[in-house]
This record gives sequence, structure tokens and C-alpha cells, in this order.
Amino acid sequence: MTANLLEVSQATVQFGGVVALDRVDLTVREGQTMAILGPNGAGKTTLFNVVAGVVPPSQGSIRLGDTDVTKATSSLRSAKGIARTFQITQPFSGLTVIENVMVAIVSRGQSMAAARDEAAEYVEFVGLSAKLDEPARTLSTGQRKRLELARALATKPRLLLLDEVTGGVDRPSIPQILDLIRRLREERGITVLVVEHNMEVLFGLADEAIFLNRGKVLVTGTMQEVAEHAAVRSIYLGDSDA
Ligand SMILES: Nc1ncnc2c1ncn2[C@@H]1O[C@H](COP(=O)(O)OP(=O)(O)O)[C@@H](O)[C@H]1O
Ligand SMILES: [Mg+2]
Repeated sequence: MTANLLEVSQATVQFGGVVALDRVDLTVREGQTMAILGPNGAGKTTLFNVVAGVVPPSQGSIRLGDTDVTKATSSLRSAKGIARTFQITQPFSGLTVIENVMVAIVSRGQSMAAARDEAAEYVEFVGLSAKLDEPARTLSTGQRKRLELARALATKPRLLLLDEVTGGVDRPSIPQILDLIRRLREERGITVLVVEHNMEVLFGLADEAIFLNRGKVLVTGTMQEVAEHAAVRSIYLGDSDA
């Protein structure tokens, strides 16, 4: 039996009167790729913030492997192998592509020369070798998403949280990004949680999915089960920007 890598139990987050997460349970096994689905405002990014340690839950607990990390800082969680990308990419725009990736490696204590070699490997993995010495500000949205992924890989994650990796990316570039997500598991054995607004893109990629609505888990199951669920269908049909 595969061990659970992440267990979120009864996580609750309130912002003033808004319940962004309402007693959310989530179990992710080592090596799994899981989709976090739901309309805008459902709580998907807040769930990532709780797992990454950026937003403390008012209730509930987070376990990473055998360790309760509910009270652990985000930097401790990063050291334990949780990495993320952001819905809005945040590269150092004045630094080059490779320098952006090197920052994460140097901060692990590597020398500049070793960091450059290792960074080049991640840049190649995400298909940006041709842009190695270009400033990050010259990249397209899709390329910036891939740079984010390379920066996340540089922290050597066990669990990678990808927030709307296809958001704002032009349609022809989306398959390239999905292929990268597939290779994270196949070639690197990384457990991946991927937030998506548009569930169609994750068919064939995610083993399982949870569907959030107004901070609550509405359905969990295979992608197929979630997509066919009556409540999910009615939310998507009624959600004009889905
Ligand atoms: N920092 C914050 N302050 C106040 N409200 C927030 C904050 N972050 C999120 N929210 C609210 O919490 C709810 C869930 O937001 P979010 O997790 O960003 O949803 P999603 O990523 O699914 O679109 C929304 O109603 C949003 O407005
Ligand atoms: Mg979001």
C-alpha cells in the first residue's frame, strides 16, 4: 500500500465573514497527481496557502508524511519538501531565466558553479534552454509558468502545488505544460496537486480530483466521477466564466 504524503483534516479558514475553507478533508498518496477543481472563489488557492503554511487554519490539521506541520512555518514546510507555483507568476524580472532558478539553489547552500549546473538541468526539463540567459521579463505567460515550475523544482520538492498553471496561457501552449506535469510524476516521482478552473484539461492526467464550492468539498473521486456529478454539472452550467 502506498503511504499518504499529505493529510488535510477539517481545515477551516475565515476571512472576516467569508468562510474560504469549511472543514476540508484531503488525502493525497505518495506519487499521486490530484486535481483541485472548482469555480472562482471556491477556496482552491486558500487550500494551497494552508498546505504551504502561508495562511493558518482556524481549525483542523495538516500532516506531511508522519509529521504534523499544522504549526510549522512556510520555510520549514519548504525544507520538508512542499513547493508551489503561483496563480500570478512572480519571477525576479530583472534576472535571467537561469539566475531565477539559481537563487533557489544557492539559498540551499550550493556554490554558484554547482548551482548553475543544477539550474540548467531544471531549465532544460521545462523546455526553456533556448532562453537561459534572457531576462525573465521577456518571457511569454506560458514561458513564465514554466520558469515558475523550474524554480519550484530547484527546492527539490516531494509535493508540488501548481496553481492555475494553464491560466492565461495561449491554447497551443497548454499541451506542453500538461506534458510537463505528467513528466513530474513519471520521471521525478513528485506528488502533484494541480488547481484548475477548467476541468477538461486534466482528463487523463489526474488520478483523482476534489471539487470545491464555497469552501466546501462537494465531491471527491476520479476525474470522471467528479465531472459527471450532477451538482458539479449544475455549478459549471450556471457559472458563466467556467
Ligand atoms: N487574503 C484574503 N482576504 C480576504 N478574503 C480572501 C482572501 N483570500 C481569499 N479570500 C476569499 O476567500 C474565498 C476563496 O478564495 P480563493 O481561495 O482565492 O478561491 P479560488 O482560488 O478557488 O478562486 C473568496 O471568497 C475570496 O474572495
Ligand atoms: Mg485561485
